[in-house]
Amino acid sequence: MQVPAFDLTRQNEQLAKPLAEAYQKVVAGGNFILGEAVKRFEAEMAEVLRVKHAVAVANGSDALVLALMALEIGPGDEVIVPGFTFFATAGAVCRVGATPVFADVLPGSYNLNPAAVRTKVTSRTKAIVPVHLFGGPAAMAELMALASEYNVAVIEDAAQSGGSICGGLPTGSIGDLGCFSFFPTKNLGCFGDGGMVTTQSDALAEKLRMLRVHGARKKYYHELLGFNSRLDTLQAAILQVKLPHLGEWLARRQAIAAKYREGLKGVPGIHLPDEAEGHTYNQFTITTPRRDALREYLAAHAIGSTIYYPLGLHLQPVFSGLGYGRGDLPVTEELTETVLSLPVFPELSEAEQEYVIAKILKFSEGETCRK
Ligand SMILES: Cc1ncc(COP(=O)(O)O)c(C=O)c1O
Repeated sequence: MQVPAFDLTRQNEQLAKPLAEAYQKVVAGGNFILGEAVKRFEAEMAEVLRVKHAVAVANGSDALVLALMALEIGPGDEVIVPGFTFFATAGAVCRVGATPVFADVLPGSYNLNPAAVRTKVTSRTKAIVPVHLFGGPAAMAELMALASEYNVAVIEDAAQSGGSICGGLPTGSIGDLGCFSFFPTKNLGCFGDGGMVTTQSDALAEKLRMLRVHGARKKYYHELLGFNSRLDTLQAAILQVKLPHLGEWLARRQAIAAKYREGLKGVPGIHLPDEAEGHTYNQFTITTPRRDALREYLAAHAIGSTIYYPLGLHLQPVFSGLGYGRGDLPVTEELTETVLSLPVFPELSEAEQEYVIAKILKFSEGETCRK
C-alpha cells in the first residue's frame, strides 16, 4: 500500500461535473477579474465565518500584507508573530516596512504563548498576529485581552484554519482582521492561489477593497498606494462549488485525528498534539525525538509525511539582521527538530490510515526493543 501525505485529485474527481460546469460558466461569461462569482463567494464566506465583510484577494500572503496596510502599519512599528509558523506571517510584516518580533509558542498547541507575547510588547508594538497553526485555535481569549490592555490590533492568520472554531467563534472573526489562504492543500483550496481578508469594520473593509485595486475607489483615480491583489473569477467559481462540502470535509479531518489519537495513545516516544474543540486538523502533527528516523521508516513503507517547519523564523537567514540566535525561542527550536505531520485529508481511507498507524506502532516497538 502507498499512502500520500495528501492527495488533491480524489476530491476533484468526486466534484468533476460541477467543477467543469462552473469553469464553463465563467469562460462563457467572459468576466475574469472580480466578477459576479467573487461577489457571491465573498457573501457566502462572510456568512460562514460570521463576519460583516469578506474581501477576496490573490493569496494568503497578500491577505496579511493588505491587513497590515489597512491598519497603516509601517516603518518604525513592531508586530509580534510566532517563531513557529509559515514564513508569510513574518514576511508580510517586513513587506510593509515594519519589524517582526518573534515570540515563542506552547509545546502542545504549537501556537503563540500569551505569556511570551507579553514580554515582547514595547511602545512600538502595533499588532499581534496569532496563527491558528495546523487548524488548531490559538489562545485567543488571552491574546485579545492582552491586545486590549496594550491597545494594539490583532490580525488572525487563519490561513490553515478555515472553518475552525475558537471559543464558539470562527477563527478569523475574532481579531480586527482575519487572513485566509485558499492554497490547494488548505481546508478549502482552489486550483491555484487565492486568499481573503475578513473584518467586522466597515472602514477597514472599504480600505481593503481599495488597496487590492491599486488604492482606487473609482477606476483610474488612486487615493491610496495599494497594489494588484484580486481573486480570479475562475477561482471563486471553483471555491463556490467546494464550499458547501467544507463541513463534511472538516468532520472527516476530525474523525481521522480521533483515530490517530486512539491508535497512537500511550505509544512510547510519540507525543500527540493538544486536543482542542474546534480544531480542524489541516495537519495532524505529532512530535517525537526520533523524528527523522520515523520519517525515513515511513517513507520506506511508502507513507508520506511532512516536516512543518524545519527552521524557526527567528533563525531564518533573511532575518539574521534582527539579532536573534539559537536558544532565544526554545520551544520553537525543539519543535523544529521533533515535529512530523501525518497523512490527513478528507478522502484518506480507513485502510490507509490503519496502515499508517500500524507502521508507526511497528517502528516504536523496534525502538523500544533497541533501548
Ligand atoms: C500560516 C500561514 N500563513 C500564511 C500563508 C500564506 O498563504 P498563501 O500561500 O496563500 O500565500 C500560509 C500558506 O501556506 C500559511 O500556512
